[in-house]
Amino acid sequence: MKVAIITGANAGVGFGLVQHLLQKDESMTIVMACRNLSRANHARGLLLEEFPQANIDVEIVDVGNIASVFQFCENIKKKYQQINYLFCNAGILSALGINWKLTISMLLTDPVGLIERADATIQAVGEINDDGMGRVFAANVFGHYAMMRSFEPLLSNSKDGRVVWTSSLTADGSCFDINDWQGIKSLTPYESSKWACDLISVACHDRFQKENLPISSFTTSPGVVASNIGDLPYWVTELRKLLHYLMRFVGVTSQNISGYRGAVADAFVALTPLSSLNTTLRYLAATDRWGTSFVEEHPLDIDISTAKELIRKCELAYQAHRHKLP
Ligand SMILES: NC(=O)c1ccc[n+]([C@@H]2O[C@H](COP(=O)([O-])OP(=O)(O)OC[C@H]3O[C@@H](n4cnc5c(N)ncnc54)[C@H](OP(=O)(O)O)[C@@H]3O)[C@@H](O)[C@H]2O)c1
Repeated sequence: MKVAIITGANAGVGFGLVQHLLQKDESMTIVMACRNLSRANHARGLLLEEFPQANIDVEIVDVGNIASVFQFCENIKKKYQQINYLFCNAGILSALGINWKLTISMLLTDPVGLIERADATIQAVGEINDDGMGRVFAANVFGHYAMMRSFEPLLSNSKDGRVVWTSSLTADGSCFDINDWQGIKSLTPYESSKWACDLISVACHDRFQKENLPISSFTTSPGVVASNIGDLPYWVTELRKLLHYLMRFVGVTSQNISGYRGAVADAFVALTPLSSLNTTLRYLAATDRWGTSFVEEHPLDIDISTAKELIRKCELAYQAHRHKLP
């Protein structure tokens, strides 16, 4: 029986992904890796109403705290002999507010950019977590890197282990500076962290191949989903939804709006035979004007030396934290 671990499965894209996986295979064991027990149990209850026979486990983890990630990994290793899928989905965008001047100007000059990117969101700069790491990088990237490293033996046991990194269509090489790999000085730490996911995915896939491990790594984007990310005021999210539907109707394919549609690329890379997939692409969830989902493939313009340097830095940090364990 397959086992899928999904971080941030209680809401948005993660919740939609669980629905996709169980629709295809209700015998799959789902591990909802969430930070808040009551939100996770509430979501689990909703999923069990839809899939009464499903085997859904809740495990608590704060992906932005390395001790919590290591504890989570130990709990999983005690319970499961194999992992088929690790979905690195949980994520944060640390928003301070909205740049209304830019919002209005983009609305008039670049409405698609306004609705697809976070340019008009003022992001917190220089945030550090309790482990001394860039806060957004720690949650979006490093916690998942540590999970992936800890789970390599279990992923290998499945004979076709797949790690799926949730990136974003807003991320590209211009957002990332290897000299500020944790995005601490960046004005766009969110986009920087998402490009870091892409770099890690490609470089780790290469390493798995070289080490003959039966593990693959993929990167996906949910397009635009009207979720809780960025903690925007409720009325802003609702107002934006009108714009999302309008954009979708005029043919902007990124406007998935619901977490379920946003999860279609994650489900695709999990359920498609390996021989039909390409780890150098980013798989994008997309929607036609009537709300019918499909998956787009976008080539990733990865600088492999930067990618290797990033995993070298992550590995050093991972080993340093492991050695601090009691
Ligand atoms: N929405 C979009 O348009 C969009 C676009 C591009 C990429 N993405 C990416 O898609 C992924 C899912 O986002 P979403 O849109 O579904 O947002 P969401 O509704 O806010 O869901 C994010 C999930 O991550 C969890 N999470 C956040 N910080 C965590 C932590 N430290 N430890 C454990 N779990 C944590 C949240 O838990 P709580 O419910 O407890 O807060 C929630 O379950 C993210 O990686 C995001 O960057 C989203």
